[in-house]
Amino acid sequence: MKLLNNFYQVSGPALSHRFDATAYLLNSGKELLLIDCGTPEGYQDCLSNIRKLGYDPADISCIFGTHGHYDHVGAAALFKKDFGCKLYLHEADAQRVMEGDDIKTTASLLYGSHFPPCTVDGFVKDGDVFEYDNFTLEVLHTPGHTPGSVCYVLSIQGMRVLIAGDTIYGGFSAHIGSSEEQWRRSLDRICGYHFDSMVVGHSNPVLLADADARLRDARASFANYYNPWFKNFKDEYRY
Ligand SMILES: [Fe+2]
Repeated sequence: MKLLNNFYQVSGPALSHRFDATAYLLNSGKELLLIDCGTPEGYQDCLSNIRKLGYDPADISCIFGTHGHYDHVGAAALFKKDFGCKLYLHEADAQRVMEGDDIKTTASLLYGSHFPPCTVDGFVKDGDVFEYDNFTLEVLHTPGHTPGSVCYVLSIQGMRVLIAGDTIYGGFSAHIGSSEEQWRRSLDRICGYHFDSMVVGHSNPVLLADADARLRDARASFANYYNPWFKNFKDEYRY
C-alpha cells in the first residue's frame, strides 16, 4: 500500500497476517530498505505485497528494526536467509533477538510461537542519520516499551514522518523490560519535536496527519489506570 512516493506499508493485520505489526518498504533510489518486517506467519504475504508494488525483495539491503519483538522483526531471519538482508537494531534489544528469547521477544508470551534467532549486523543509536537519495532516516532512542525501542524520523518530500513503532500505543509488561519512567521521558521528548505525520506499530495502512496533536493526546493518556493507553471516559482523544 503506497503511503507516499517511495514509502509503502507492506505488512500489517490488513495486509499480511493478524500477528504482524506494521512494516514499511522504502525505495532509496539505489536500494530497498525495510522498517520492521513482520512475523514468519506473514512472511510470504509480505513478499507478495512487495512484488505487487513492482519491487524485488532481493533488492532489500537492510531491515531497520524499531525494537526486538516477534511481530516487528520475527521474520528477519527469513529475510536474511533468502535475500542476505542485514538487520539493524538498538543494542539494548539485540540480545533477545540473537538468542531467540521467546519471552522477551513476546513470541511465546503473546503469539504461542518461537522467535527464529537472528544475527544483528549493526546497532542503531540515538542521533544516527542515514542519508539516501530519496530521503533521510534519523534515529530517536525512545526506551519504555522495551529498553531498545527506537523511533525513526523519515524526512521525505518535504515532510517529517514519525515511524513510531510501539513507542505509541504499545503494551506494557515487566516481562519485556518495559519501564514507565523511561517511557514517560521518551514521550515527553518526542512531543517536543514537530512531525507532519506519523505511523504506528499496529494499525491499518494509514498515514496519520496532525501528528503533533495526536502525540500530545497520546502522551496525556499514557498510563491512565496503569494500562498505558487506557482512555479516560471524560477525555476525547483522536487515535
Ligand atoms: Fe512491541
